[in-house]
Amino acid sequence: MVTLETPRLVLRRWREEDVAPMAAINADPEVMRWIRDGSVRDEQQTRSGIQAWESEWESRGFGLFAVEIRSTGELAGFTGLSVPGFLPEVLPAVEVGWRLGRSHWGQGLATEAAAAAVRFGFEERGLRRIVSIAQVGNDASERIMTKLGMRAVRETVHPTGGRRVRVFELSSEQYAPTHPPMTLEDGPQRRRRTT
Ligand SMILES: CC(C)(COP(=O)(O)OP(=O)(O)OC[C@H]1O[C@@H](n2cnc3c(N)ncnc32)[C@H](O)[C@@H]1OP(=O)(O)O)[C@@H](O)C(=O)NCCC(=O)NCCS
Repeated sequence: MVTLETPRLVLRRWREEDVAPMAAINADPEVMRWIRDGSVRDEQQTRSGIQAWESEWESRGFGLFAVEIRSTGELAGFTGLSVPGFLPEVLPAVEVGWRLGRSHWGQGLATEAAAAAVRFGFEERGLRRIVSIAQVGNDASERIMTKLGMRAVRETVHPTGGRRVRVFELSSEQYAPTHPPMTLEDGPQRRRRTT
């Protein structure tokens, strides 16, 4: 089990009790506006999605984290690493992504969470390159990519949805941690990172 801690957040694996709050986030049209065709998802689709994310953790050793507010224990949404199979032209690749409930926007939380996921990918999983993909117009996401040190490398069309997307990337050589050290739990031991 992997758990990452940032100043305000805990990034952890998924639990049954996350289904309802994540379903509420997925049911908000404003949250889903820039995702695929913009349609919302119900509780059953959310449950299946979480099961698929957990399977990816088991098979790949990385995945999407549940993002919890440290001070309250509330589920804020997700961030983490996945394989962007929906865009074959960028493969092989690992993508960093994010989705937070609207009440958590505008506080820098997505950047804080994503920076921890990027650090995990490069430092703990030895990735050489991380991409991020957003529909053209999703300016908040592009801003996060820029704050993570990523650069736009490609603009293309989503092969099934037809919407335009921009691909950003960051290599392990370009990567420079911009956030303070965090605590990492891996297995029964707990150790404090010093880099
Ligand atoms: C995208 C999302 C995660 C941003 O969450 P957040 O916690 O508010 O993000 P942060 O505060 O860390 O950073 C957002 C940055 O974008 C900026 N921003 C926000 N809305 C913006 C907009 N409409 N246009 C331009 N910049 C915008 C913010 O000012 C901030 O930049 P700053 O720190 O320089 O001021 C959140 O809006 C979300 O979950 N959206 C729906 C899901 C989604 O679109 N996911 C991504 C799919 S690719």
